[in-house]
Amino acid sequence: MEVIICPSAQRVGEVAAAKAARIAAPIGPDVVLGVATGSSPVQTFAELARLADAGELDLSGASAFALDEYVGIPEGHPESYHEIIRKTVTEPMHLDPARVHVPNGFADDLAAACLAYEDAIRAVGGVDIQFLGVGTNGHIGFNEPTSSLSSRTRIKTLAARTREDNARFFDSIDDVPKHCLTQGLGTIMDARNVILVATGTSKAHAIAQVVEGPVTAMYPGSVLQFHPHATIVVDEEAAGELALADYYRETYANLPDWQRLDV
Ligand code: F6R
Repeated sequence: MEVIICPSAQRVGEVAAAKAARIAAPIGPDVVLGVATGSSPVQTFAELARLADAGELDLSGASAFALDEYVGIPEGHPESYHEIIRKTVTEPMHLDPARVHVPNGFADDLAAACLAYEDAIRAVGGVDIQFLGVGTNGHIGFNEPTSSLSSRTRIKTLAARTREDNARFFDSIDDVPKHCLTQGLGTIMDARNVILVATGTSKAHAIAQVVEGPVTAMYPGSVLQFHPHATIVVDEEAAGELALADYYRETYANLPDWQRLDV
């Protein structure tokens, strides 16, 4: 894993977007993005939109696949991930809405919706760049602790901690759905590149477990240790429990020219 420690949350967004732009350049305008919701990637997406507007990144034919969606929240609801992806990804990056996909958590047949989602990802040839946040319990997507490390898109029950963490987006915790559809860990691992962003002290323990802990379903993000192209971009606070923080800083400071991100 490549670990990049940044001095601020703003910088995390800039570095993650620069890394994505570097990966996207040889792929071209048809790049397939995997996109997360939540607070973590908001600055990254804003920076990607800025790079696209400045002509430094071509997203004119890009597709996007969201990681997850709540079950039972209709598409137009302000907290539905359909709506959040529309506001944070589709509109600012000027993507064709027909090429932006979110699992259908309002489908009559949820299991069929999950299979259809896997098919849709496969039909475009897979995800080129998967953006991720991480839960305070180490989840990626909504793959809660003890998720199968080879799971595919499916229905999951949200952990109590996740519902507590996400209650800030709702009027009360009782309004936070109990179920979701989420890409599985196997689905996420199929992405050709993964960029995980995290900021703040609340993420420090999860980041240390994901990067330096044993690979375990108790911290599902730790499966990324098996990914050949995983980049973890964190601020100082989220890096607070990393045992090898100095090593990651030194590595980044001494990158060879061809690997350097000009941000
Ligand atoms: C969101 C998702 C989750 C979040 C995680 C962190 O689509 O899949 O894994 O990335 O819960 O959320 P924030 O960024 O709000 O702290």
